[in-house]
Amino acid sequence: MGKRVLSGVQPTGNLHIGNYLGAIRNWVETQGEYETFFCVVDLHALTVPHDPQLLAVHTRTTAALYLACGIDPQRSTIFVQSHIPAHAELAWLLNCITPLNWLERMIQFKEKAIKQGENVGVGLLDYPVLMAADILLYDTDRVPVGEDQKQHLELTRDIARRFNDQFGETFKIPEPLIRAEGARVMSLQDGTVKMSKSDPSDMSRINLLDDPDTIAKKIKRCKTDAIREITYDPHRPEAMNLLTLYQVLGNKTREEVEKDCSQMRGWGDFKTALTEVVISHLAPIQQKYKEVMKEQGYLEEIIRSGTAKAEAVASHTLARVKQALGLWLKAGHPASWEQFLPT
Ligand code: TYM
Repeated sequence: MGKRVLSGVQPTGNLHIGNYLGAIRNWVETQGEYETFFCVVDLHALTVPHDPQLLAVHTRTTAALYLACGIDPQRSTIFVQSHIPAHAELAWLLNCITPLNWLERMIQFKEKAIKQGENVGVGLLDYPVLMAADILLYDTDRVPVGEDQKQHLELTRDIARRFNDQFGETFKIPEPLIRAEGARVMSLQDGTVKMSKSDPSDMSRINLLDDPDTIAKKIKRCKTDAIREITYDPHRPEAMNLLTLYQVLGNKTREEVEKDCSQMRGWGDFKTALTEVVISHLAPIQQKYKEVMKEQGYLEEIIRSGTAKAEAVASHTLARVKQALGLWLKAGHPASWEQFLPT
């Protein structure tokens, strides 16, 4: 069996260049080397208040964006998390062995819980256990994600190890795949906070489907600093962020970027150059997205066959887990059940 990759994005509205650089772009690159599974994690999108009229639409558009960004259905298995019941089922089984205080420690839970005040559902606390289930179901080797998911990956590893210790070797221990550049894209309005789908200001992010005028406007108004020279300086968060975007989306090396910048007269010139780079990087993605969205039958067929392939793997793992836990399996009993009969 080849090495496996699995990752997913929540269908919670527009995907932005943070999701692209931190995750999807890196998924594309794993396709040659690994057996790849990419899901749209719609059950995770239920952990914060959501609009039931939009969830299925966003699930569809997120899957279409995977294709538009270069996920190749011939090489990758693309599916929707809720179409495979094994995800929710394994999450339950893992819940029963996960200490509550491991979940209460999660940074993302604490941040999101503060935003929601009294309205925190159990699902929000349980979010990382469902994520662990997504990963462990596929005997995943590597999980390409942005920096913010590192803690959830560590938790997944801890849960897998704990299960293996208590019930015998059952799960493979997965590793994160986090790129040095673009793993943490920051808000356009504040270089110290992460670019996020849930930021109330759309000006804080560049969405993958923003049109050229919107992109130009957002970059024009984005926050910079008062220093005219544009240099990679860790003490200048806005400069670091914008330079990284320019470098990665322009497929340039750091040296090339430094050379370009040395010829610029200040932020005005830089913003013009960055706008061009962003627009031309996103243009083919947007074009492909439009084509895919016109072919709904094609998209549905990809999801249907992806689900069948993923389900075959997932049901196998789930049966193995149930056996390890000692559940009475539909297709048989644990080997030595008779010796435990009460006399
Ligand atoms: P989500 O939808 O919040 O984020 C999707 C991916 O985008 C990355 N990301 C970023 N990367 C760089 N800069 C940013 N500003 C930025 N914002 C988001 C995230 O790190 C993530 O890789 N919990 C996951 C979804 C998930 C999952 C999984 C991932 C559920 N099950 C199993 C991998 C494997 C998440 O954060 O989704």
